[in-house]
Amino acid sequence: MGQALASALLADPLVSKLTLTDVFEPNVPNSNTQTKVETRCLKADLTSLETCQSLFTPDLNLIYILHGIMSGAAEANFELGLMVNLDSTRQILDVLRQTNPGVKVIYPSSLAVYGPPATSTTKITELHTPVPGSSYGAQKHICETLLDDYSRRGFLDGRTCRLPTVCFAECSLVLSTGNLIAASRSL
Ligand SMILES: NC(=O)c1ccc[n+]([C@@H]2O[C@H](COP(=O)([O-])OP(=O)(O)OC[C@H]3O[C@@H](n4cnc5c(N)ncnc54)[C@H](O)[C@@H]3O)[C@@H](O)[C@H]2O)c1
Repeated sequence: MGQALASALLADPLVSKLTLTDVFEPNVPNSNTQTKVETRCLKADLTSLETCQSLFTPDLNLIYILHGIMSGAAEANFELGLMVNLDSTRQILDVLRQTNPGVKVIYPSSLAVYGPPATSTTKITELHTPVPGSSYGAQKHICETLLDDYSRRGFLDGRTCRLPTVCFAECSLVLSTGNLIAASRSL
């Protein structure tokens, strides 16, 4: 999603600077190599406090927190999921509230916060009580709650959206349709 979002931001006339990070140096999306937006692509491990303190400078006015260990991987490696999905997200929120109080933070949560539906026809709305059925869902739910509380206190201006499974074209290379359906159900 980071590359798709970056592509959209690079096409937005209101955006003048963009910093992309990942554990490897990310690319500028192919469609926007000619962009006039000042773009930095940085290799950065967001579990590192030092890295977060150097990245989140006061001049930033919009932060998207997209990094993470996805559903199956977070279930297979509990410690890694906890460290990346929860600990590093909390660390980012704390660095931001100190360096950049009130900054707008967008957090993509997941339908995984609801756990599996009771039946295949159960309709889930925002009024449904989240009861995560996976470590990933629990970690996303905790981060949503933290971002809400930081916003209530005026530390940050947080926005959470609970996304369904989002898959880009490359996914078809690694996931069969059956895997995708199974992945959707697990969310
Ligand atoms: N794709 C979906 O179906 C979906 C649905 C709901 C919510 N989301 C959320 O949206 C966000 C983006 O999802 P995605 O599908 O693009 O995931 P993705 O796995 O494609 O991207 C996550 C990125 O995080 C990076 N990352 C992992 N550990 C890191 C670390 N320590 N420091 C810095 N970067 C690190 C990975 O290298 C990877 O590029 C995630 O927070 C995810 O929970 C995704």
